[in-house]
This record gives sequence, structure tokens and C-alpha cells, in this order.
Amino acid sequence: MGRAGKRDLITEVPGERFDTTQFVDPGMPRPGKSYTDAGGFLTDIAGFDAAYFGISPKEAAQMDPQHRMLLEMAVEACDGAGVAPASLAGSDTAVFVGISDNSYGALQMLAPEGINAYTMAGAASSIAANRLSHFLDLRGPSLIVDTACSSSLVALVHACQTLLAGTSRTALVGGVNVLLSPYHFVGFCQASMLSPTGRCRSFSAGADGYVRAEGGGVVLLKRLADALADGDRVRAVIVGSAANSDGRTPFYGVDLTALLHQPDLAARQFAEVAGLIRSGRYRPLPHSVYPASRIDEAFRPMQHSRHIGKVVVAFDPLDEPLTVERRAAAPRLDPQGTYLVAGGLSGFGAASARWLADRGARRLALVGRRGGDSPEAPALLAELAERGVGAVVHAADVTDAGAMRRIVAEADAAGHPLRGVVHSAMHLDDAGLTDLTDERFRAVLAPKLAGGAVLDEVAGAGPLDLFLVYSSAAAVGNVAQSPYVAQRQTEVEHAGDTLPSATDYPRG
Ligand SMILES: NC(=O)c1ccc[n+]([C@@H]2O[C@H](COP(=O)([O-])OP(=O)(O)OC[C@H]3O[C@@H](n4cnc5c(N)ncnc54)[C@H](OP(=O)(O)O)[C@@H]3O)[C@@H](O)[C@H]2O)c1
Repeated sequence: MGRAGKRDLITEVPGERFDTTQFVDPGMPRPGKSYTDAGGFLTDIAGFDAAYFGISPKEAAQMDPQHRMLLEMAVEACDGAGVAPASLAGSDTAVFVGISDNSYGALQMLAPEGINAYTMAGAASSIAANRLSHFLDLRGPSLIVDTACSSSLVALVHACQTLLAGTSRTALVGGVNVLLSPYHFVGFCQASMLSPTGRCRSFSAGADGYVRAEGGGVVLLKRLADALADGDRVRAVIVGSAANSDGRTPFYGVDLTALLHQPDLAARQFAEVAGLIRSGRYRPLPHSVYPASRIDEAFRPMQHSRHIGKVVVAFDPLDEPLTVERRAAAPRLDPQGTYLVAGGLSGFGAASARWLADRGARRLALVGRRGGDSPEAPALLAELAERGVGAVVHAADVTDAGAMRRIVAEADAAGHPLRGVVHSAMHLDDAGLTDLTDERFRAVLAPKLAGGAVLDEVAGAGPLDLFLVYSSAAAVGNVAQSPYVAQRQTEVEHAGDTLPSATDYPRG
């Protein structure tokens, strides 16, 4: 431990804490990963003179290093105050310790074969305070405080109150923290709380999160009059201390409907909020301004799920001129054409049928193996009929090229040629690789791949308004979704190509 002076002690996570290659990915926040490995780390958290504290090496190995550090720091605090530790034995001295991380114990629990008689006491945060009372034979209250980042300060408030109440004449107060668990880094990153640039810049416009660090401290407190009477070395005097909570954090609710109908209300509410901000009760959100010509930069922090307050896009006439590409309008569909939806009688397929109807389609061919027996079918068909959409239900397998050709030919013959295809058919069967049989694999792949190929073939070269294919964003690592991974890979490989022939794929 040693003095930091003015040196920047933030470094990368040392190798002995945890494997950063497994848990850290600075690219972007994603499940199971931390986007930073920056922290303030002590050089030696394992070293401990167990014999000095009358603790066996076997027990010491099970003790949270935070307990070990607290014992060492308590002795140093007594030395610093000029108080012989032995002189406190049997006294009503209180112990309050701020501590909020119990990773050492939690990580040990992951290897149950290493658990022994000392593990529970070594892992329990409460024992962190009790060890000091035990070693120094202190009889006052002995407890820990966990109020997250404020733990040691709140512990100090309790100590002051105890001294002022007169129930203890001396108090040992401390706080300690070590960073052993990768999971905490991951969790705080998922909440975008850690600084991606690895530096705390509190109160600065460049502040982008906090940086975790290790450390500890213990002080010995007495009422000033007692310390002076005892001839102790007084290093500082605490003038006052208090703890409170913000309760329910205030927010300003606005009823948008009321606002629309009462223009005066907006002015009144603005004035009210301005008053709250002036009084300091509310603080305006920090905001970053981006010129419209660089709007892509405005999206970047949002993409990284960074809570940066407000993003303002400014349209400045003196700024670089904007080139805005006109967005293609959603297709207006042909009321005389037929739109075929494979898997159209449930889930996304049914939603697609409704979407097609919204855009003007009046003739739908809805395909599913169960046809009208699909549970969602009756409600969907009733709704479409009410909206004046003629939906023909086909009980057919999308991999059956003959059946699909007949459906298209039937629509043609009725004077309503095929104008669009939605492929939403799928067979769900999640299973781990070891449980998969060829048959199960085929059943999943068939509607997606062979079905897609069949639809491509029957759509032919005729003009289509759309050919929409639903996919699965499954990738390697999706537990139990190996067929989807395989299917997705095939789709990716053929993206933009004409789909291969139906015969290239197994049929269900
Ligand atoms: N739901 C999700 O969370 C999710 C997420 C990502 C991607 N997706 C994708 O979105 C698409 C649709 O998913 P969904 O959730 O809407 O599925 P769903 O509710 O299970 O609907 C699939 C439909 O496909 C039909 N179908 C299955 N095999 C068929 C075959 N051989 N021939 C004809 N029809 C067949 C089913 O009806 P029958 O059983 O009667 O044949 C069913 O109506 C799929 O491509 C899926 O991978 C879904």
C-alpha cells in the first residue's frame, strides 16, 4: 500500500485477479462482458502475517483478504493514535466497518470441494467487524455497514453517534474494498456505470462514468475531550456527521394530453421547472450538441448504451449543407395482386398478413401445414374479412414445390397474380447439439431453407412488390439453438444471391 502522491495509479486488471481475455471486450457493452478493465489495484492483497493475529494458515487462506487488511489496518490505527492495542482489551470500544463486496466468498463457493470449516466465517461480511473485536477483545457493538459506495462514511456516522451517546468511549471505524470478481465489472458495465475511458472525471463535462478501486482505512475515534484527557495523538476533529436518504428521487411528471389541450399549462409548467432548477432541487440533464451534418456521431453514444443525458442535433444554417437521402416510401400494394405468406397463420406471419392489409393488399394466400386449424387462424381470418381482405387458407407444406406451384397457379387463374411473398414459416425445436438427431436438424432446417428455395422458385421472374424473409439472429453461443445457427449461417452465405435450388436442402 504506500502513498499515491500525485501519481495516476489506475491500471489494467492484474492477471491474478481474473482472466480479462474472458470477461473484457472494449468494443461495446454486450452480455457477459465488461467494456473496461481499468481500476485502482493494490499490489499485494494476499500477504498477511497470520501468526501475529493468532490465526492458523489454514484459516487465513479462507479469510476474505478484506478481513485480513482490516486487522492489519486496525493495529496501524491504534499505533497512529498512540493507543496500545492491549489497553483496549475488555473496553466498550465499538467497531463499525463499511464493506460491500463479498466476492472472495462467492468465488470460493464456485469450487465446493475447497470449502472447509473456516469458509463461512471467512466469507461472511459481518465477521469483518467481529474479527477486530475478537482480536482486540473489544466489548462494544461490532457491526458492518453496507450502503454501497458510502459504506465507510455511514459507518463513521454510526461511530460518531455511538460516541456522542456515550455508550462507547472509543470506536474503531474502517472501510475496505478489493476487486476480485469479474462479474462486478460486467454488471456495472451493463448499467453503463463505468468510465469507458478508464478515468473518473467527477464534476467535469468530460465525465463518462466511474472507475473502481481497491483500498482501505481504519481510524480510531474518541470524543475530543476523552482523547485529550488520555493524551492521545489527535490527527483530526470531526465537526459534524449525518446520514440521510433521498427517498423517492423527485421527477417532474407531465400529462401530455393535458398539455396539448391547455397551452397555458405548458408556460406554467416551464416556469415551475425553471424555479426548481434555479433552487438547485433539479439539475438539468447534461447535453451534447451535434451539428446535423455529423448526426451519425450523435447516435454513437446511444449505440453504446451510454447514459449521457440529452443529445441535441443542431441545424445551423452556417454549418455544412446537409445531404438528406429521401427514404423509399413503404410500398403501396396492389389490391388485385396476391400476397403469399408462408407461416401466415400465426406469429410474425399473422402480423405480416395484417401489415400487408394495412398497406393495401386485398388478397392473401396464407400457408401453414395445419391450415385453418392453427389456433390463431380464426381470429386472424375474422379480422381480415372485416377489413375487406380476401384471405385464402392453404393447408400445405412450404417445402412442397408442387403444392406451392398450385397455390400460385390458382391465384393466377383467378386473375390475381402473385405480387409478393413473405416467408415466415418455421419449426421450433431448441436442443443442445448432443440431443440433436439428423431428423430433428432436418425438421428445423427444412421450412426455412428448402421452403425459402421453393418460394424463390415459384415466385419466378414476375414483378414482385416484396419478398420478405424472416430470419433468426442466432449465432454460435446461443445455447440449444444450434439448428438456427446453422440455418442462419446458410442464409448469411447466400445473402444477396439467388437461393440455391430446393433440392440442395433436406426435406422434413
Ligand atoms: N418469435 C421470435 O421470437 C422470433 C425471433 C427471431 C426470429 N424469428 C423468426 O420469425 C419467423 C416466424 O417466427 P414465429 O415466432 O412467428 O413462429 P410461429 O409462431 O411458430 O409461426 C411459424 C409458422 O410457420 C408454420 N410452419 C412451420 N413449418 C411449416 C412448413 N413446413 N410449411 C408451412 N408452414 C409451416 C407454422 O404453422 P404449422 O405448424 O401449421 O405449419 C406456423 O404458423 C421465423 O423465421 C423465426 O425464426 C422469430
